[in-house]
Amino acid sequence: MSPLHDTSVRGFASDNYSGVHPDVLTAIADANDGHQVSYGEDAYTAHLQEVCAQHFGDAAQIFPVFNGTGANVVGLLSMLPRWGAVVCAKTAHIHADEGGAPEKAAGIKLLPIATPDGKLTPDLIAEEAWGWGDEHRAQPLVVYITQSSELGTVYTPDEIRAITDYAHEREMGVFMDGARLSNAAARLDLPLGAFTTDAGVDVVTFGGTKNGALGAEAILVLDARASDGLIYLRKHQMQLASKMRFVSAQLLALLDGDLYLRNARHANAMAALLRSKMEAGIADGSIRGVEFTQRTEANAVFARLPAGVADRLRESFRFYDWDASTGEVRWVCSFDTRSEDVDAFVAEAARLTSSA
Ligand SMILES: Cc1ncc(COP(=O)(O)O)c(C=O)c1O
Repeated sequence: MSPLHDTSVRGFASDNYSGVHPDVLTAIADANDGHQVSYGEDAYTAHLQEVCAQHFGDAAQIFPVFNGTGANVVGLLSMLPRWGAVVCAKTAHIHADEGGAPEKAAGIKLLPIATPDGKLTPDLIAEEAWGWGDEHRAQPLVVYITQSSELGTVYTPDEIRAITDYAHEREMGVFMDGARLSNAAARLDLPLGAFTTDAGVDVVTFGGTKNGALGAEAILVLDARASDGLIYLRKHQMQLASKMRFVSAQLLALLDGDLYLRNARHANAMAALLRSKMEAGIADGSIRGVEFTQRTEANAVFARLPAGVADRLRESFRFYDWDASTGEVRWVCSFDTRSEDVDAFVAEAARLTSSA
């Protein structure tokens, strides 16, 4: 079949607008011949477990799933009793972008907290970490953090350790949404285990899809004491793949080697390039009225545009409003973003803002 879409069109809407990395497609094809036992009893999932131990430590257990929302819901469910609640940032994906899945599919109460940059701190967590033993209050038993965050910022290992220490002292677990874990590894220039297992995180997800997979995510239990019944919950929540070898093959393509890192480094570098070119335009006066609203530490750039510019810029490049009421927008780069895409985007921004 020939493509049904214009393959020359690219944008900055999301890292899941991009296609699949060729090595991932090859890995799927390579896994295709013959028969393998279904539901995870296959050679690819077994090897993935070994590879995950290399990244996250020998105690880590990996559970491949289909998508990030499912990874979050199943992972959190495994950490909570029926009366449990999750402390998270107001911008957390589980709170802002999952259609209420944690509440609806899992009955989990969320306790969201406003943050300046998408990152929680012990002081912020303290706003909702109280009331244990009070039968009137959903019990705050897990802290959810996102690495890299929904606002494109990255926690340092020390910041994570401060959160895990705070949480564990109060017998709370720590769940890390790693839909963009690779982008954080690239930013920090650290092995995946250094800011997850070694920083005291209990359960982390690994996002393959935004990093070049077709549709592959995983839940990693780093401390078995913090999670229970995950295999049963994955089935209940419809996240158990029958032909799991193909999900695992995608994750292997990324993690059995350094493709996850190369893809993330590239996406981050493109976001840094986009920001620096915009800043150069602002400095030389060719771009007017644009200001940045967050640090650019991973693969997303947040900016505020003059009124009317976002819609006109979107005629050439797709991207989303972040906060339409303030004119804040989000630009995301992918493993396949090209510097020519950035150049064309910045040139169009210059043209539109100088005539705005
Ligand atoms: C921080 C974060 N978590 C999880 C997800 C996964 O969502 P999905 O269910 O679309 O795979 C996303 C995707 O946008 C995300 O940004």
